[in-house]
Amino acid sequence: MALKIIGASCSPRKGKSTRFALDAALDAARESGADVEVIDLAEMTVNGCIACGKCNKELACSQKDDFPDLIPMLSGPEVGGIIIATPVYFGTMTAQCKAFLDRCVMFRRNGALFSNKVGGVVAVGGFRNGGQETAIHAVHAAMLIQDMVIVGDGFNTFHFGGTVWSGCPEGYEKDDMGLASARNLGKRVAELAARIHN
Ligand SMILES: Cc1cc2nc3c(=O)[nH]c(=O)nc-3n(C[C@H](O)[C@H](O)[C@H](O)COP(=O)(O)O)c2cc1C
Repeated sequence: MALKIIGASCSPRKGKSTRFALDAALDAARESGADVEVIDLAEMTVNGCIACGKCNKELACSQKDDFPDLIPMLSGPEVGGIIIATPVYFGTMTAQCKAFLDRCVMFRRNGALFSNKVGGVVAVGGFRNGGQETAIHAVHAAMLIQDMVIVGDGFNTFHFGGTVWSGCPEGYEKDDMGLASARNLGKRVAELAARIHN
């Protein structure tokens, strides 16, 4: 069974800097031997959790948006890691990202299905130091509460995760430092997932 790394792009905008940064991370994960799959929240509707309690009893959700279609993918045994990529909004993750993470409570309540999966985060801000690290920490909290194993960007940038600058004057595609951290994060997630799950 090939190990899979799922990447979730949590910008409301299609095909912009967050998706670009996520793809950089997932390319590196693929080069490290993993299969990859993308969830792009810009192309779907995922509402916030309404605490209806349905998932206390079963791996199912009462809401009729796009999240239920993601349940088989996210709960598959082949998933070794999850990369969350979010724009920085007011120093933290987007509302779309929080809604997605909250809806994932069903996996915790039904056998801690994310337990031991490797988690990493890429944050993209309009400013070089606009809160990428605080956004990453906020996502890490959800990953820890899911009993995931969180990693930073590893060799050879070694900090909190992917920290990308969409306001780079030459364009975000030229934010070499930030994109290197995103690639290193993807590689680190895939390599540790292989060590834990193979
Ligand atoms: C409501 C809102 C709040 C934002 N807050 C921040 C911020 O605190 N720090 C920052 O660096 N950029 C901030 N930005 C800019 C976005 O993080 C930046 O444009 C990002 O690249 C958007 O990602 P996207 O291109 O994938 O949509 C904010 C943008 C919006 C719309």
